[in-house]
Amino acid sequence: MGDRSRMEETLTIIKPDAVRAGHTGRIIAHLEDAGFTVQAIRRLRLTQAQAEAFYAVHRERPFFADLVAFMTSGPAVALALSRENAVARLRDTMGATDSTRAAPGTIRNLYGTDIQNNAIHGSDSPGNAAIERAFFFAGCDMVGPARIPR
Ligand code: CMP
Repeated sequence: MGDRSRMEETLTIIKPDAVRAGHTGRIIAHLEDAGFTVQAIRRLRLTQAQAEAFYAVHRERPFFADLVAFMTSGPAVALALSRENAVARLRDTMGATDSTRAAPGTIRNLYGTDIQNNAIHGSDSPGNAAIERAFFFAGCDMVGPARIPR
């Protein structure tokens, strides 16, 4: 199997804490340095309904209301990304959900504060990546290696 056959896509959100702190450019550079191609990018402020829909899987969790308040607190930046094994590699690059436990040099270690204000979201599986990419982007927005017809 060549590298192309493992080309995969994922979705990330630079969260309002990191955008507010002026870390957007540094986080995008970190992702590119880690081998990700930016296929699409969009800056937006999520509405309450959008944040509730995006995180619907967490609806019953005790932190859900705080999470929605946080994610709607200011602009965020969504990016469609590709690279080999993109879902797993993005999770490595982000670090643990709790910023205080994230490995040194990971995005959450560098730019996150705690378990909620953790700078960045990443899809947790290829299936959810497809759902989350479709939430923010239309197919015609996406350009990148995995999309170039052969
Ligand atoms: P994320 O990977 O985007 O997925 C759900 C988000 O909920 C998580 O990052 C955190 O920002 C937030 N969150 C807040 N408290 C918790 C918690 N106790 N466990 C997991 N996620 C939490």
